[in-house]
Amino acid sequence: MPTNSRGMASAGNPPPIARRRFVEVLLGSGFVATAVAFLYPVLRYLVPPKAPDLGSDAVVAGRVGELKPNSGKVFRFGNHPGLLIRTSSGEYRAMSATCTHLSCTVQYRDDLRQVWCACHNGKYDLNGRNIAGPPPRPLENFEVQVRGDEIFVRRRLEA
Ligand code: FES
Repeated sequence: MPTNSRGMASAGNPPPIARRRFVEVLLGSGFVATAVAFLYPVLRYLVPPKAPDLGSDAVVAGRVGELKPNSGKVFRFGNHPGLLIRTSSGEYRAMSATCTHLSCTVQYRDDLRQVWCACHNGKYDLNGRNIAGPPPRPLENFEVQVRGDEIFVRRRLEA
């Protein structure tokens, strides 16, 4: 029967050196994992990922192929909703999705081919112009750029 360093029998137990080595590896890997968990966010902060140069106010509104023709979707534009529309001809349009009447969120109606506000039946055309109902002003129109398979939207620069 094997004995340990004190001369005691160690039935089936690994030798003390192997146990010590195992504990050292366990503690060492724990230290490395802690160091990586601390350093990774610091490095990500110091070296941010490259972003397309579209200005700080551009957002990704969707991906190419996500919208079928004659459909639309609401996306987040900062703290406000935006509306991305793919027209029947395949062209992308984007505008604010906040109704200019009482700030309900508008939606695209494929049956009307118009932007519609469900709160008081307000209607806008595909350029965001108010055409029916109570909305007093057009929706803010956004600039759309397709880069790769992403659709970027940003505010139009004032002239
Ligand atoms: S809030 Fe949109 S029509 Fe009144």
